[in-house]
Amino acid sequence: MVHRTRVIILGRQGAGKGTQCARLAARLAVPHVSTGDLFRAEAAEGTELGRQAAAYFDAGSLVPDELVLDLVVQRLDADDARAAGYLLDGFPRTLAQGQALFEVLGDWAADVAVELDVPTSVVLPRLAARRVCQDCGATSRAAPGAAEVATCERCGGTVTRRTDDTDEAIHRRLATYDQESGPLLSWFDDKGLLVRVDGVGDPDDVHHRLLDAVRSRIPDIGEV
Ligand code: AP5
Ligand code: MG
Repeated sequence: MVHRTRVIILGRQGAGKGTQCARLAARLAVPHVSTGDLFRAEAAEGTELGRQAAAYFDAGSLVPDELVLDLVVQRLDADDARAAGYLLDGFPRTLAQGQALFEVLGDWAADVAVELDVPTSVVLPRLAARRVCQDCGATSRAAPGAAEVATCERCGGTVTRRTDDTDEAIHRRLATYDQESGPLLSWFDDKGLLVRVDGVGDPDDVHHRLLDAVRSRIPDIGEV
């Protein structure tokens, strides 16, 4: 497999990976591959993989590597990713996953790994306010004190909190990130692939910082 634009976006839960990747993927015309979204889609379809994964992600634990790797390799082997490349959101998130990705795809697995840097004190209120439409999947921010269930402004569907945005699961996810991210980030840094981007502030500003970071490693990046 040889891909054209290969970007990995890292960052703790609530850093804005999904928000920024949706926009960046459209801008770069590459598929947005989110392991969390892939697992949620499997769970919604009621597949065996979705059922197995849901037990882990609802509790805020990592899904075992063997389940994640097969899913990612299969997704990156699809025609769109083979032709255009990919924007990876939420994978790899352990050193073992990073090493496995490079073992499978070779040294060209990534042009750049961007860490969207947002402190825990900033992500906690973001996760508490996050709402997701169960019908169209749109992510939004609830105003302080807003109801847990609302109507989607985009499609009229039902907007709720994510099943893993409970206090307990949030704390477990953040603790896991703090434990697992250090070795992975150092490994990307040693490979010369890591760029850190400040993820605090207006989403438009963060988008432009991210684009600059990607351009710093892929100067001839195609943009639509
Ligand atoms: P996943 O779906 O990837 O969840 P996560 O890692 O917990 O990250 P989030 O999606 O919570 O955060 P985000 O950075 O995308 O933030 P968002 O853009 O939504 O994974 C879920 C689960 O699947 C895992 O816990 C695990 O079980 C399993 N899994 C997935 N990948 C795996 C792997 N590789 N290995 C093993 N298991 C795996 O933004 C959050 C909120 O902030 C939103 O409301 C948004 O509107 C708001 N916001 C965004 N940007 C800004 C800004 N600049 N200013 C203010 N608010 C903002
Ligand atoms: Mg996300």
